Amino acid sequence: MGKEFKRHLITSALPYANGPVHIGHLAGVYVPADIYARFLRLKGEDVLFIGGSDEHGVPITIKAKKEGCTPQDVVDKYHKIIKDSFQELGISFDIYSRTSSATHHKTAAAFFKKLYDEGKFVEKESEQFFDVEANTFLADRYIVGTCPKCGAEGAYGDQCEKCGSTLSPDELINPKSVISGGELVKKPTKHWYLPLDQYEGWLKEWILEGHKEWKTNVYGQCKSWIDGGLQPRAVSRDLDWGVPVPVEGAEGKVLYVWFDAPIGYISNTIELLPDEWEKWWKSEDTKMVHFIGKDNIVFHCIVFPSMLKAYGDGFILPENVPANEFLNLEGDKISTSRNWAVWLHEYLVDFPGKQDVLRYVLCANAPETKDNDFTWKDFQTRNNSELVAIYGNFVNRAVVLTHKYFEGKVPAVGALADVDKEVLAEIPQIKASLEHNLSTYKFREALKDAMNLARLGNKYLTETEPWKLAKTDMERVATILNISLQLCANLAVAFEPFLPFSSAKLVNMLNLAKIGWNEFGGSEILAAGHQLNPAELLFAKIEDAEIQAQIDKLNATKAANEAAAAEAAGTPAPLPQKEECTFDDFMKMDIRTATVLEAVKVPKTDKLLKLTIDTGIDTRTIVSGIAEHYTPEEMVGKQICILANLAPRKIKGIESKGMILMAKDESGRMKFVTPAEAVDNGACVG
Ligand code: MF3
Ligand code: ZN
Repeated sequence: MGKEFKRHLITSALPYANGPVHIGHLAGVYVPADIYARFLRLKGEDVLFIGGSDEHGVPITIKAKKEGCTPQDVVDKYHKIIKDSFQELGISFDIYSRTSSATHHKTAAAFFKKLYDEGKFVEKESEQFFDVEANTFLADRYIVGTCPKCGAEGAYGDQCEKCGSTLSPDELINPKSVISGGELVKKPTKHWYLPLDQYEGWLKEWILEGHKEWKTNVYGQCKSWIDGGLQPRAVSRDLDWGVPVPVEGAEGKVLYVWFDAPIGYISNTIELLPDEWEKWWKSEDTKMVHFIGKDNIVFHCIVFPSMLKAYGDGFILPENVPANEFLNLEGDKISTSRNWAVWLHEYLVDFPGKQDVLRYVLCANAPETKDNDFTWKDFQTRNNSELVAIYGNFVNRAVVLTHKYFEGKVPAVGALADVDKEVLAEIPQIKASLEHNLSTYKFREALKDAMNLARLGNKYLTETEPWKLAKTDMERVATILNISLQLCANLAVAFEPFLPFSSAKLVNMLNLAKIGWNEFGGSEILAAGHQLNPAELLFAKIEDAEIQAQIDKLNATKAANEAAAAEAAGTPAPLPQKEECTFDDFMKMDIRTATVLEAVKVPKTDKLLKLTIDTGIDTRTIVSGIAEHYTPEEMVGKQICILANLAPRKIKGIESKGMILMAKDESGRMKFVTPAEAVDNGACVG
């Protein structure tokens, strides 16, 4: 470790404000970042936790176009949803601002300008696709065509969403403009590039030599980027949404979103602390840590540090970048466009007051070293068999028993038995492990430590059985409950970074104001005679029906996606099976073979034929909506099947007795159902 730091600057990736936040974002970035920030604050460290929305980039402009509004409308809408839902989940940002703010525009433009003035960029002209009709250069995302790899239509100029290949617009077959659908030409345009190749040697030393302690997934990705040879990266784009390039002659150009967004960390600090921000960004004794997902590694480990290095002026670099892998949902990749996600703002509505349950499950299951899966069943199990059955149950027993035997006053501790000493000795050990794990970004392990403390309490009560001693040995009961309550106080601190709402509840139950990290590990947090508040349940069981409702919601999404995919492929999906019926239900239907004797169109209708039918029982009239599928001539002489005992109905004034059985597919095509070989009319079908 070595280095001593005076303050902690914690950043979390700025989410794109083109959609709400889902559990993948939370598990990968915001829950761990918040745990870390709360832990350090609890220890009394000087902490600044920066968040905000990333409000530039092409996808936002495309979304605006689709919805017929401005990009500003799009980001206003999602910035609010994201900000409010983070707050409700208890993500304790010191500031949550946005990159469309005036402060950010000014800061990002000045950052660019200094690098520009000092000649840190390379200026290059290149041929780019230009939409003649719309009179604009096109970002890669604005160009669609046939994928050269898999042949799918509608592949984007940067990626085919069908097969996942990374593409360049030049590779697309038949490239077209998304904006006008029109013809594309190539035109020269000028852009500025950050010559990452010039930073290669420095990056090698700084990361590959200097930061071997970084997580293997992060270090490995950095190494493969650096070993693969770094190329200059364009930091400007031809686009009208973003921070304008602050250089003469650069009209119609903005900073590339990945250039301006990380500067957002700086601008948000400036917005919050206009006079003190430099202390956070330019002191060697500030420890900066970036919380991100794995798709952001290159930008936070290579590009942004190179920008800061190029800028100089005392800017510090990240001490660590504990990036996570991805969280899947019920076995499938989370996808915004396929609506395959659990959205935070919806969770908060569906599970009111259960913020800590989500925080718990996402941390317990965080994709720290590999991709992981979120399932609703696991969510239920972790709530019911861990939060309720272990943590909640222990606290409840300790507090309820204290009310029962000691009127809710903390009883005095007597002589300690071996079992008491063992429990008390274990608390500081668990604290040490928990603290080590939190300091090294092993949040899952740290959460296990906290849960082990609750397990310890449960085991202690089960072994000592104070309820059985109440008649005979109240002094012993007093000691056991005192120790149990001290354990509760320790649990409140241990869980505070992870489950802040429950810790607040527990601290309140214990009738304390706050429990500091320095008290954690001790066995005298609660004084004898201290009055507790009434017992409250920390967690409630989640029933099957609530889980089923969520699974149903996902199944509906899946069905809708499959139907849309089938329709796109020209084969609509079949309707789902109808509700079950009994054998008796079926036997009620009198289905028979019959032959069409005559067929005429019903006047003034497009769809109806009036059919005269030999049913074997009688000759009758049936009106059927098949005129669009069969001409009268085609029908005459055909053997068909009918539902004979359907209640008679008047259709266009004609009495219709029965129904012709038709096979009808989702696209509306109809074919009548006929016996495989001719049989007598009136034969029963069934
Ligand atoms: N908006 C990006 C994403 O969601 C993250 C930007 S992080 C920042 O992947 F550093 F650039 F702000
Ligand atoms: Zn493809």
